[in-house]
Amino acid sequence: MEKSDLKERNQILDEILESRRSIRVFKEEKPPKDWIEDIIEAGMLAPYAAAAVGDEKDFRRFFVFEKGSESIETAAQLMQKKAADGVQHFENLMAEKPFIRSKFEPFVKRLQMAVDNGVPGVGSAPYFLVVAELRGVPPAEQESLAHVLENMWLKATALDLGFQLVSLTSQMAEDEGFMGLLELPLKKFALNGCAVGYPAFIPPATPRPDTMKATRWMD
Ligand SMILES: Cc1cc2nc3c(=O)[nH]c(=O)nc-3n(C[C@H](O)[C@H](O)[C@H](O)COP(=O)(O)O)c2cc1C
Repeated sequence: MEKSDLKERNQILDEILESRRSIRVFKEEKPPKDWIEDIIEAGMLAPYAAAAVGDEKDFRRFFVFEKGSESIETAAQLMQKKAADGVQHFENLMAEKPFIRSKFEPFVKRLQMAVDNGVPGVGSAPYFLVVAELRGVPPAEQESLAHVLENMWLKATALDLGFQLVSLTSQMAEDEGFMGLLELPLKKFALNGCAVGYPAFIPPATPRPDTMKATRWMD
């Protein structure tokens, strides 16, 4: 590749990496479906744990939920219920072991907000995308899912779309109702998800540690 082309390619990549943000408020307007397909294609290109899943070719699936659809209403209700179960579980745990309260409380408060107001991005954003990755031996599906979602995030950024990770989606892999909705067998797949739409506004970059200080070149 020509030096100037290489420079231009890296400038574009750097600009995308630097402008990626967590977007938590979306406009009503729906992005075009082919952009959502492009985001999914970027996810499909992400690496997968080939040694862990063996010869299985059907190791990754995508599910598109649209705002206002029947399926997103069902998904949102099931996820809200999962958040409520989580609150109950951690409240019991904190009652049993009061010394963990200070560490767990902020997380439980966030879960309680999902119970009260709905899971952020699920039903409120134009699209909620769920990714399922085949479980393997050794388990590496959550790492694979992180790669998939990062690819999707960067593609969404390149399209000037907003993207929010919806971590609670991973809990739904154990939920019979949710897996039934996806028509996936229980125990075979891990899940994660994200919300996508036009950002209502672009927040400033969040701080990062100084890279030089965080990096040590070993002798
Ligand atoms: C493993 C992981 C899980 C996350 N889960 C959520 C989530 O459920 N909801 C959310 O709004 N952001 C979630 N985030 C996004 C982080 O909060 C965000 O990346 C961080 O605050 C930095 O902001 P930035 O993405 O704008 O750089 C998650 C990030 C990671 C790495």
